[in-house]
Amino acid sequence: MNPGALVLFLVMAPSVLCECPLNKIHNLGTCVYNLHCFHNVTSKGLLRECLGSTNHAVIVDVTLVDATDRFDTSSDVEFLSLITTLKVSGNWPETNLTFLENMYRLKSLNLAENNIKIINDSPFRHLNRLEDLNLSKNQLFDIEELFQFDSYPNTVRKLCLAHNYIEEIPGDTFSELTNLVHLDLSYNYITELSEEPFSNLTNLATLKLNHNRIQNLNGAMNNLLNLKHLHLAHNNIKNIEEESIKIISHLETLDISKNQLENLKPILFSRHWIHFGDHSICKIILSDNHIAYVPNATVITEQKSRQIRNSFRPTKIIDVFTELDLSHNSITHIEYNAFQSIVQLTSLDISNNRLITFDVNTTDLRFVKYLNLSKNFLQTLQYSSFASMINLQNLDLSFNKMDFIPDQSLMNNYRLKLMNMTFNEILEIRRLRITFDREGGVLDLSNNGITNLNLPPGDAYGLTFLRLRSNNITKPSLIKLNHQPNLAQLDMSKNLIEELDSESLQLPVVLGILDLTHNLIQKIGPSSFHRVSHLKTLRLSYNKITSIEYGAFEGLSSLVNLDLAFNNISHLDSKTLMDLKQLSVLSLRSNDLLYLDHSSWFAHKQVLRVYLDDNSFSCDWLALALSDYNNGYSKMCPTVLNTNINGHSIEGIPCKQEVGAIMDSQQNYNIADERLLVTNQKILEAVQEQTSFLRKYMWRFVLHDAEKKNSK
Ligand SMILES: *[C@@H]1O[C@H](CO)[C@@H](O)[C@H](O)[C@H]1NC(C)=O
Ligand SMILES: *[C@@H]1O[C@H](CO)[C@@H](O)[C@H](O)[C@H]1NC(C)=O
Ligand SMILES: *[C@@H]1O[C@H](CO)[C@@H](O)[C@H](O)[C@H]1NC(C)=O
Ligand SMILES: *[C@@H]1O[C@H](CO)[C@@H](O)[C@H](O)[C@H]1NC(C)=O
Ligand SMILES: *[C@@H]1O[C@H](CO)[C@@H](O)[C@H](O)[C@H]1NC(C)=O
Ligand SMILES: *[C@@H]1O[C@H](CO)[C@@H](O)[C@H](O)[C@H]1NC(C)=O
Ligand SMILES: *[C@@H]1O[C@H](CO)[C@@H](O)[C@H](O)[C@H]1NC(C)=O
Ligand SMILES: *[C@@H]1O[C@H](CO)[C@@H](O)[C@H](O)[C@H]1NC(C)=O
Ligand SMILES: *[C@@H]1O[C@H](CO)[C@@H](O)[C@H](O)[C@H]1NC(C)=O
Ligand SMILES: *[C@@H]1O[C@H](CO)[C@@H](O)[C@H](O)[C@H]1NC(C)=O
Repeated sequence: MNPGALVLFLVMAPSVLCECPLNKIHNLGTCVYNLHCFHNVTSKGLLRECLGSTNHAVIVDVTLVDATDRFDTSSDVEFLSLITTLKVSGNWPETNLTFLENMYRLKSLNLAENNIKIINDSPFRHLNRLEDLNLSKNQLFDIEELFQFDSYPNTVRKLCLAHNYIEEIPGDTFSELTNLVHLDLSYNYITELSEEPFSNLTNLATLKLNHNRIQNLNGAMNNLLNLKHLHLAHNNIKNIEEESIKIISHLETLDISKNQLENLKPILFSRHWIHFGDHSICKIILSDNHIAYVPNATVITEQKSRQIRNSFRPTKIIDVFTELDLSHNSITHIEYNAFQSIVQLTSLDISNNRLITFDVNTTDLRFVKYLNLSKNFLQTLQYSSFASMINLQNLDLSFNKMDFIPDQSLMNNYRLKLMNMTFNEILEIRRLRITFDREGGVLDLSNNGITNLNLPPGDAYGLTFLRLRSNNITKPSLIKLNHQPNLAQLDMSKNLIEELDSESLQLPVVLGILDLTHNLIQKIGPSSFHRVSHLKTLRLSYNKITSIEYGAFEGLSSLVNLDLAFNNISHLDSKTLMDLKQLSVLSLRSNDLLYLDHSSWFAHKQVLRVYLDDNSFSCDWLALALSDYNNGYSKMCPTVLNTNINGHSIEGIPCKQEVGAIMDSQQNYNIADERLLVTNQKILEAVQEQTSFLRKYMWRFVLHDAEKKNSK
């Protein structure tokens, strides 16, 4: 039967299929089906052409929701026997899973989240093609007899028992699952592993035991010669001895974070090259324990492994990298040769410890790209430890006690991309002999007490982004960065700057983004930005600016974004912004503006979006500004971030309707503006979604106009 004929057949067999509705059956190829069924599975002859099909692999994927666990399977034996993948959801505290009786072709079975407490007998016994069994998120506690099968060897490769109530694993629970590759027992209540429950799982590659109550490994993994990933986070392990985990040197991932480890034995670091493929990344995660001290690691294991490596793979050089996480411990001391046995350490996290110095054999650190020393008590960096760390890219020294930048220790490094020294005790900087990465470098010095920073030519070469947020800068002229040829972005927000004049900014002309938000700026004098004429973004929000002087932004002919939000500007003459030929976004949110002279924008090159939220603009002004924009007179497009639906608004922009308060002293604005009269018809066409206010407003002019004509 071809697929077309089958569809026809299905259409002609209506009511009998109500448990697996027609529109939920998808034919994805010859004998490849996807079915969605309710309550039970019935078919009445469906897919008969696939029975005994030898030409095609039969794939029948069934999702059965709201299922009963004991529907009558005898009438539909043939169809049920075709199912290869089954995901069932139901609610069966105690079940025999009888519906599995005839599904002997099942490869993948998902019984997760069915509230199962007890499974009687061994319902998987006859599923001799089963590869993937998911029993997670139930309430199983007794699993001793569950995994018994008729055939040997058994085919199950993946078993998930996560999120159940398992406390004990009797010795032979998994003994038949000799082909198991992936076993997930995480999120249970396992305390003991003393019965060697995994001893037959010699093919196991991943074992997840995280989030249990294990205290001792008891050598339970010693037979698992192929184990690569061992997850033990969130247990109560106090000690790891060589005897308790002999295969430790095979492990690519060893996660013992969030346990009670006090002693760090060198055995935890030793790995044998022969167990790794090329480019493996070995992860050793020991964070959140009670480790206080990192001892010298004996080099013997490493030498041994090198010898093994040489004898096994004489010609092939394999690249294995190690990432070590020791964060959130109580480490006060690291011995000089602590990392000697680690294979090519590339990432080292020792943040959140109690280090006063970091004095480690630099030979063992020469591959390190990422080093996190944040949240310690460091006052300096040992030259000897850092001198050869030539691959370092990301150095986090935040939250320490440094009162200077340890630039000399980093002099030989040319790869630094990010150096974070936020929350230290630096007050001033006179030299910075660091060459950053060719692609650019970021230096974060925020939250120090910096008042002074003067970089001579050649220093901090390659620095592209400097953060000086939350320091003690009162005089911006003391931040001298004129000689920084690569500096593209400078953040001086949250400082104490009160005013800017033409000498204030000693910054390089290449600067593109300058952030001066959250200062105390009241006054911006003429030509304040003349040195940074390539600026594209200037942020001046959250200051105390009350007015913008003529010439303040002189020379900023590349500026695209200007942020003046959250100041105290009550009146703004657009002529003060006339140098800003490229301006496209102007934020004036949360000021005290009633009115913005916008006639200057008539000749602007591109559209200028002006954000007006939280001001006191009158609806009259807004209507005029919008109509000028909509009919193409002005390039200024009034807009808001948050369209307010309460109160008066035009095109979603809130405004104040002040009856009779029609201004103004400056003659710029007049309700009887001739130009407006001439164009009011055009406006009516152009403005599509105006509010009733605008309609009323325009309509008045139309009437007015007509009256005038009539009276002529
Ligand atoms: C499937 O469930 C329906 C009720 O939803 C019932 O009428 C029908 O007999 C059941 N079929 C089998 C095979 O159990
Ligand atoms: C389920 O299995 C138990 C124990 O083998 C048996 O006593 C019971 O009769 C079975 N129930 C059903 C509905 O088959
Ligand atoms: C088991 O099923 C649950 C729920 O459907 C799912 O979240 C989980 O990823 C599955 N586990 C495996 C190993 O497939
Ligand atoms: C454990 O594995 C061995 C050999 O792989 C096998 O002979 C033995 O029967 C297995 N144990 C059980 C209980 O299946
Ligand atoms: C660790 O090794 C260094 C360098 O070999 C040595 O000076 C130090 O004494 C050793 N520490 C201990 C506790 O053996
Ligand atoms: C530093 O480490 C290298 C290689 O790991 C070793 O050869 C050297 O002896 C160590 N230096 C000291 C002083 O222990
Ligand atoms: C360094 O560690 C701290 C604390 O553990 C963390 O907050 C920070 O994000 C880490 N730094 C980097 C660059 O990953
Ligand atoms: C520096 O570290 C602080 C604290 O972890 C973080 O908030 C900040 O984003 C980091 N700076 C950079 C540039 O990554
Ligand atoms: C900032 O500078 C002022 C005056 O120079 C000083 O009194 C204050 O302690 C400094 N604050 C910090 C955080 O260094
Ligand atoms: C804004 O300026 C007015 C007068 O110019 C003043 O009364 C008011 O306190 C200022 N508001 C703020 C938040 O500085």
